[in-house]
Amino acid sequence: MKRFIITILLLAFAGLSFGAENLPAIIPLPRKVVCKGKIAFTLTESTRILLPRNDKVLRRTAEIFVQTIAREQNLMLKIREKDSGEIRLTVDPQLAEEAYRLDITASGIDIRGGSSAGVFYGLQSFRQLLAQYGTVLPALQIEDAPSFGYRGAMLDCGRHFFTVDEIKTFIDLLALHKINRFHWHLTEDQGWRIEIRRYPELTKIGSQRSETVLGNNSPAYDGTPYGGYYTQDQLRDVVTYAAERFIVIIPEIEMPGHASAALAAYPNLGCIGEGYKVRTHWGVFPEVFCAGKESTIEFLQNVLEEVIKLFPSEYIHVGGDECAKRWWQESEETQQFMREHELKDEKALQSYFIHYVQKVVNAKGKTLIGWDEILEGGISEDCIVMNWRRPEFGKKAVRTNHRTIFTCSAWSYFNLKESRIQSEIGPRGPLSLEKVYEFQIVPDSLTTEQQELVWGAQGCLWTEYIPTTWKAEFAIFPRMSALAENVWSPLEKKDWINFTRKVEMQFERYELWGARYSEAFFRTQDIERKR
Ligand code: ACM
Repeated sequence: MKRFIITILLLAFAGLSFGAENLPAIIPLPRKVVCKGKIAFTLTESTRILLPRNDKVLRRTAEIFVQTIAREQNLMLKIREKDSGEIRLTVDPQLAEEAYRLDITASGIDIRGGSSAGVFYGLQSFRQLLAQYGTVLPALQIEDAPSFGYRGAMLDCGRHFFTVDEIKTFIDLLALHKINRFHWHLTEDQGWRIEIRRYPELTKIGSQRSETVLGNNSPAYDGTPYGGYYTQDQLRDVVTYAAERFIVIIPEIEMPGHASAALAAYPNLGCIGEGYKVRTHWGVFPEVFCAGKESTIEFLQNVLEEVIKLFPSEYIHVGGDECAKRWWQESEETQQFMREHELKDEKALQSYFIHYVQKVVNAKGKTLIGWDEILEGGISEDCIVMNWRRPEFGKKAVRTNHRTIFTCSAWSYFNLKESRIQSEIGPRGPLSLEKVYEFQIVPDSLTTEQQELVWGAQGCLWTEYIPTTWKAEFAIFPRMSALAENVWSPLEKKDWINFTRKVEMQFERYELWGARYSEAFFRTQDIERKR
């Protein structure tokens, strides 16, 4: 009733306009927004969402939208497949696949997408408008489509474990930003987090560590056992949850390095002896899978085959980074293998190994993704490179004809603290909001064909110092919002000052969405002003 009276009062000021100070503040910035400035439409309890008949995917999209609006606007919208409705959702094949149009007029709201994903993105923009204006909406028209096909976020669940519910919340927050890939880092030296039925010790032993170092590898440990893993049923549930939000999950199974937890479970996968343990502190360790051993290769093949069955993603990430070569050098068996296969050094062995793994992945109809070290020693063209070191490595990947995802650590690792004065999330940094926003995704001096190989960008969160979702959200927001705008919005519209104006509004939206965020950006600004 109260809402109704407020609405009537507002309508009494039908001439009321939405001024320049109150233009739509959607993140990521849409391609084109025309705001007519007058009140056009008010959502009420009797507003209905009209869907095409028998479109199960769109129905689920609408149901998810209804749930979120019930929570965020305290308004229970109804869904219809016949008669009429005020919020009309349709798929329009004339539009590009992820594109959408959103029109708010006196007769209602039309959201058309090039696919169900496009409709979903239109609804995310609509959600942001509701967060900004409430239920009384201005007349406006949005035409929107992403700049890049790959818009990703990575979460390291090896160093710290996040529950299924926490992962779902993370996915919800990504979906709001029109992120379409969740790169799930599932295996690490400090914990193996994915159930593999054929090798139960991986989770029985590999998912548990005896304790965890305090701080930045200080001499002290907490003395508390720590562990956790996802069962295959849980993984399938999360895959479906993400798919309903148009996010593809790309699992990462690290090899040949970062293998301590797997070796603790199955010591014969290593090159030398026993005595492995799930690591309890942070760093890059010498423990690697023995790349020149038939039984190790067979193990990895079996693991990947189970992983591929669980994740419908076309892409499987096999790590490949920070592989210490010392063990391979010291292992007579490995050296013998290298001689037999005419591999001149350990880099050539790494390349041989990745080629082999690629064949396993390809045989199942999937494409391999690896960190940029997979370029060492050469790989075949259809591997996708994820550039985490300097952009030069990404450039090299593109120049050697690889589709490439840019997640260069200095611009895209959100475990770097946001400002010098922010100490909560770890020792490294800073990586300011502005630096994330300004990252140049397509490097200079590429040919047109090479530019097309730049698939997109990703924000990563490594969790050595991030044991809780509180800290995870604090680390990624608002920087994930900056990355989302960088990878979605057209380059010619990118405008840092305009983005900063929207950040305050975004903070209100984080509150509405129940997400934590860092105010380091404003605190840093204050300090700069006082100087
Ligand atoms: C990485 O940060 N080692 C991919």
